[in-house]
Amino acid sequence: MDRNLALEMVRVTEAAALAAARLMGRGDNNAADQAAVDAMRRTLNAINFDGMVVIGEGERDEAPMLYIGEKVGSGEGPKVDIALDPLEGTNLTAMGEPNALAVIAIARHGHFLHAPDTYMQKIVVGHEAKGVIDILQSPTWNLREIAKVKKCEIQDLTVIILERDRHKELIAECRAAGARIRLIRDGDVAAAIATCVADTGIDVLMGMGGAPEGVIAAAAVRSLNGDMQGKLAWRNDNEIERAKKMGITDLNKVYHLDDLASGDVMFAATGVTNGDFLKGVRFFGGGAETHSMVMRSETGTIRKIEAVHHFAKKPNY
Ligand code: FBP
Repeated sequence: MDRNLALEMVRVTEAAALAAARLMGRGDNNAADQAAVDAMRRTLNAINFDGMVVIGEGERDEAPMLYIGEKVGSGEGPKVDIALDPLEGTNLTAMGEPNALAVIAIARHGHFLHAPDTYMQKIVVGHEAKGVIDILQSPTWNLREIAKVKKCEIQDLTVIILERDRHKELIAECRAAGARIRLIRDGDVAAAIATCVADTGIDVLMGMGGAPEGVIAAAAVRSLNGDMQGKLAWRNDNEIERAKKMGITDLNKVYHLDDLASGDVMFAATGVTNGDFLKGVRFFGGGAETHSMVMRSETGTIRKIEAVHHFAKKPNY
């Protein structure tokens, strides 16, 4: 894939973040999400490529835009699959809380898992603990292995977990093992990335979040040389039926990083609200500043981009 596409992707996440950030703290999740979707779609359609959304806002009947299967771009140029979340952390944005992001990942056709819209049990770590995790083992077992390779005690590790009732046992076990815990209200893509960024102080993500978010996170974790495993978690027979139609045959499969996102993957994220590794959008008279990261799995290059936007010269913003 043309490496310059990665920079095009930053324009896309910047536009979505700028649009959503305008509505920060308004308490209106749908408006913030819609603004991000509109902006992302508009900028995607200005790119010279033949893109298809494989992880998106939902299926065609429930998502009017950026739905799974939607074609974006000029239709000319490279054929790519797209995994996107125009606003990862809609509640966070609506409440003005940290770590909301606009995110997108692209890969050659067929290189993302077509994840059904169900939950995924996840474990994610940074490069130091690459190769030692096993989602089929207990949280305590994993914490012990991670502590061993990081040459520390379990007490020194911080686990990031979505604050949900379904995680009561997981939280209790991590506490019993002695680990420190950071509970988050939303946003497990940012949490997954945080495990791979040294100065966040987060060592491991555990627990169940969205399966589509799992694929997007995997694209970032690959470029950051971290590690991840996921296992789809079914809520009802209907989900299982839909998954089978999407071609999933082994319902208990453990997905490794390459099963979720393979080949040359490009990932871009822009901060909407302030976060652990990216600042949020800051508006000033006539413009705004954005903070983004863009990376490629093939080279492992990570770029951090601070951009200053002048609205008078960019009327679409
Ligand atoms: P959106 O804001 O993009 O809808 O997702 C937020 C999120 O917290 C994800 O990061 C996470 O994977 C998922 O929701 C968890 O789902 P649930 O809120 O149902 O536990």
